[in-house]
Amino acid sequence: MTKAFVVGHPIRHSRSPMIHGHWLARHGLEGAYEKLDVAPADFPTFVRSFAAQGYAGGNVTIPHKEAAYLSVDRRTPRAEKMKAVNTLWVEDGLVWGDNTDVLGFMAHLDDTLGTGWEQAVDTALVLGAGGAARAVVAGLQDRPIRRILVANRTLAKAEELVRDLDPEGAVLAALPWEEVGGAVAAADLIVNTTSLGMAGQPPLALDLSAARPTAAVADIVYVPLETPLLAAATARGLRTVDGLGMLLHQAAPGFARWFGVTPQVTAELRALVEADLRSKA
Ligand code: ATR
Repeated sequence: MTKAFVVGHPIRHSRSPMIHGHWLARHGLEGAYEKLDVAPADFPTFVRSFAAQGYAGGNVTIPHKEAAYLSVDRRTPRAEKMKAVNTLWVEDGLVWGDNTDVLGFMAHLDDTLGTGWEQAVDTALVLGAGGAARAVVAGLQDRPIRRILVANRTLAKAEELVRDLDPEGAVLAALPWEEVGGAVAAADLIVNTTSLGMAGQPPLALDLSAARPTAAVADIVYVPLETPLLAAATARGLRTVDGLGMLLHQAAPGFARWFGVTPQVTAELRALVEADLRSKA
């Protein structure tokens, strides 16, 4: 029986077992997907030993994505670019690491806004400069978007992200947090990658009154599913992209690798995870 895991610290609230469990059942596969709580000090050893413990691989979540990047033997170009790994597997005795967050975010954008949405996007505004922002920006960079503004409370982090992902500054530009309000009017796509709006955190206070009526607003926060930012966007009639789809889509490549079947992100799966999120809200 093939076994996979999601490893984090804490890991109690992870929805990944629900997603992979659904796919295992759907495809009639004999497999298991387990939650593993591993403290940071034990993580490098875990990466060396999971195969011996009978696991084909697994997902890596907070706070281990950077440590996973440093601990693997081989990385995909995507993981190299992100300097973070969220998917592990073993090939010819070597531990490989990939980063599927980029694919996850973009697949969900394409699903929600419709293929070709980028044709109508001249300027994108990304809020935040952490690991999630890197994945979002890297995904957007693959599309013909003329300008991607990265705004962060700590400007130096936004500048570092821009330097790393676009050394020439051809498309990316760092924006001071105080200037976000003024940039809203120019943005065709606004993406929140900060933790603001998450349950227990203050909302992201962004005034959308100057937003273009054609703009789309995305949030990678999915607890709650409708963040205050998305609620404000909906109230103004703007298109919204929630955070749950990214979580569902980023899971698919790992499943395909460990269990050998490419799974689909269906309405049924979404409804299942949505119901769980709502029941615990
Ligand atoms: P992740 O890897 O999930 O993106 P992270 O690296 O901790 O998580 O990044 C969190 C992001 O939320 C950062 O951009 C952070 O801004 P700083 O770089 O200035 O810390 C942003 N963030 C968190 N709390 C915030 C707040 N109260 N106001 C503005 N931005 C905030």
